[in-house]
Amino acid sequence: MTQFSGMDYLNSYFSTGAFVCVKDNVMTASWGFVGFMWRKKCVIIPIRDSRYTKELLDKDTEFTVSIPAAGTMSKALGICGTKSGRDTNKWEAAEIEKQEAKVVNTNVVKGCEHYFECKIKNVVPMTDAKGLEEFYSTGDFHNFYIGEVVAEY
Ligand SMILES: Cc1cc2nc3c(=O)[nH]c(=O)nc-3n(C[C@H](O)[C@H](O)[C@H](O)COP(=O)(O)O)c2cc1C
Repeated sequence: MTQFSGMDYLNSYFSTGAFVCVKDNVMTASWGFVGFMWRKKCVIIPIRDSRYTKELLDKDTEFTVSIPAAGTMSKALGICGTKSGRDTNKWEAAEIEKQEAKVVNTNVVKGCEHYFECKIKNVVPMTDAKGLEEFYSTGDFHNFYIGEVVAEY
């Protein structure tokens, strides 16, 4: 499979994953978009209904995306993509280190290659999935969190 990095990485449909932080939690996400809306640079992250991360996003207005260099941190991405912050401290379980975000009130994952800090501008829930039933057989739909990029490094 082609490996991506930085912006290309987040723009790809398939990749090995990035870390999304909200409040004190961290979750792996591999689908995401970077683009421009409302004359602002935005990151869109699709988060399913069942995620603890969704619960946190709905109570907060900020998130970060930490993108590891291509092919690195795969063990940590696996742990953060299978354990829930509801019952696991994933920072400890995945042996990753928090670094305070520069602008928003959460963390980023230390040692990544590219970072976005975002303030949520809108949330768009999926209401149906025409021809996408294989992804939504349990009804666990995605919600598109659209965040304005307030810091990138
Ligand atoms: C490689 C990989 C990519 C993932 N991408 C997403 C994603 O884009 N959106 C999503 O809602 N869940 C995605 N997941 C699943 C969540 O990371 C997983 O359900 C996680 O345990 C949720 O954590 P939370 O309950 O602490 O939010 C992915 C998992 C893996 C392993």
